[in-house]
Amino acid sequence: MFVVNWWKKLYWNVKISGSKNACLPLLVASLLVRWKVVLKNVPYIWDVVTMLEIMWTLWVQYNFLDDTLFLDTSKLSLDNFQASRIKEIRASILLLGPILQFFNKLSIPQPWGCSIWKRPIDWHLEWLKTIWYDYKYTDDCMIEITWTKTSWDKVINAWFSVTSTENLVLANVLRNWKTIIKLAAIEPHVMSLINFLKLAWADIYVDYDHTIIIEWVGSLNNNLWYEVISDYIESGTFMIIWALLSREYIDIENARVDDLYAFIEKMREAWVKIDITWNDSVRVRRSTSLKSVSLQTNIFPWFPTDLQSPFSILLTQADWVSRIHEILFESRLNFLVEIEKVKWHIAILNPHEALIFWKTNFKSWETLTSWDLRAWVAMVILALLIEWETKITNVNYIKRGYSNFLEKIRLLGWDVVEE
Ligand code: EPZ
Repeated sequence: MFVVNWWKKLYWNVKISGSKNACLPLLVASLLVRWKVVLKNVPYIWDVVTMLEIMWTLWVQYNFLDDTLFLDTSKLSLDNFQASRIKEIRASILLLGPILQFFNKLSIPQPWGCSIWKRPIDWHLEWLKTIWYDYKYTDDCMIEITWTKTSWDKVINAWFSVTSTENLVLANVLRNWKTIIKLAAIEPHVMSLINFLKLAWADIYVDYDHTIIIEWVGSLNNNLWYEVISDYIESGTFMIIWALLSREYIDIENARVDDLYAFIEKMREAWVKIDITWNDSVRVRRSTSLKSVSLQTNIFPWFPTDLQSPFSILLTQADWVSRIHEILFESRLNFLVEIEKVKWHIAILNPHEALIFWKTNFKSWETLTSWDLRAWVAMVILALLIEWETKITNVNYIKRGYSNFLEKIRLLGWDVVEE
């Protein structure tokens, strides 16, 4: 694809779409309901479609009407299950919990996702042992999981991992024992899953010290309607784009301001002007100059790792030396090599730390690429900053996680062409 010149601003506002990472666990949670579920504000993106296609092989029926998704999970069956498709999307590991709730044995391959290092699933497999499943790797590289015996109340650690916490919640919500999840992740999408299950009459309590307590309930309420929360990562991304590139201001609707507290504070520290206006909207103005900052990603409510790469592009325009410390994923600084292609003042100190030096003009025409959804968006922002035609390959990454992203960029005034 190409990203080219400033064209003409058509819209003064952008409305943030439903969140990928909130929607995927909700799709899986609908399997526990075993009846009809209606989800609103569903983003039409590849990861959602892929998850639905996998669920279709479990005899789940679904239908889209604009951004409303109608699901019927009453006929759940493993007869035609294409477990091999689990490889295509990391979040499919969440299917473990509901499937093992209703079936005693399952074989799955290792799931993949963005290339941000190993993406292990050891914690997911270890907690299976805690609830009395056994697993082994077979000769054809599958993971075979088998039920061994019934169990009683238990305490399990989730080590602040997002999908491990979601998986533990999904796997235990209908079990006839009490589950205490310690060191639980409390990211907005984890809380949205818990709120969905509570609406379905699940008995779940979240304590301030990252503990989730689940008491047994026999079944979940059917005929549920639930709205997917908007995507705080998309919201933060548009704040960055506007801080760097606008000629005027922009209003961002459904901005998830409360979820972005640490991010907004860092943006302000970098001298970006953000006003929280009304009804979860923000107004962002272009900054005439930007100050360098030191940034560390961490679990919620700290600065989210998924906004680190777009924010790093903002820091290329700051006045002095910025430091990035990415603590969660080892390969999430790899995209900086792409920046080095067009701007040499980057020092990658080790897999987790880098320095970004003060502003320079970007060097020359280059083709950029990425193997990670969030870094791909960072490449779009970089391309918008370079004031001539820039090609970005691997365009499919953006389609995995952002609804109508390139369309929104066009409406805000840039000419973006997909080839
Ligand atoms: C979720 O990934 C998100 N994905 C990621 O978004 C996000 O970057 C990440 O959480 C952190 O917020 C979804 O929600 C589908 P983790 P997840 O388990 O759950 C280590 C995007 O671009 N770990 O919280 O896979 C792991 O290596 C994606 O939308 C183990 O060691 O992340 C990492 O260092 C990318 N063993 C840390 O935990 C395990 O079994 C946190 O990972 C599991 C995780």
